[in-house]
Amino acid sequence: MQHGEFSNVSSESRRKEPNGITSKGLQWRTIRESQFAPQETLMAGPSTRKTNLSTGIRRKLERAATKVMKNAHAPYSNFHVGAAILLTSGKIFSGCNVENASYGMTNCAERTAIFSAVAELGPKIEIQAVAVANDHGVACSPCGACRQVIYEFGPDATIYFQGAEGPKQAHITELLPEGFRLQ
Ligand code: THU
Repeated sequence: MQHGEFSNVSSESRRKEPNGITSKGLQWRTIRESQFAPQETLMAGPSTRKTNLSTGIRRKLERAATKVMKNAHAPYSNFHVGAAILLTSGKIFSGCNVENASYGMTNCAERTAIFSAVAELGPKIEIQAVAVANDHGVACSPCGACRQVIYEFGPDATIYFQGAEGPKQAHITELLPEGFRLQ
């Protein structure tokens, strides 16, 4: 074997999934799946899991995102962003971007909202939806770092944001395919 080749790595793995309930209780079947199979074959596609919020709740979330924008500390970019998250409990938390003279220390609006929720309620929160607003009315989807943080607390979250051609909604796994999760 050449140096750098994988040893002991099979391209196939097995997993169990429910196979219906019988008189013996829940039955499981073993699925053999290739580790390299397209994601779609391993799980339901994102579009099948899209939460559709009622128009009223979505507007409330968007209003919360727009309102908090004014609190942004954005003297460097002059780009004010607001984000609001809806938890599965129904609670809404909001946050704005907080920039720093050391640019890399900037915290985006989305992460501010999520960290506020965790600070108040603890880590057992589940994000159902996120709305993002900006004061330039331009396309603005969550950055890569925020996508990973949203995924941590909302693996089934729907994100509402301004796309290049107007308002858009997307499942977090559409924005972040194969997000990281510690096994
Ligand atoms: N920003 C956010 O707060 N959220 C986003 O979704 C995109 C970018 C902030 C970070 C920085 O303060 C400013 O926008 C310009 O990048």
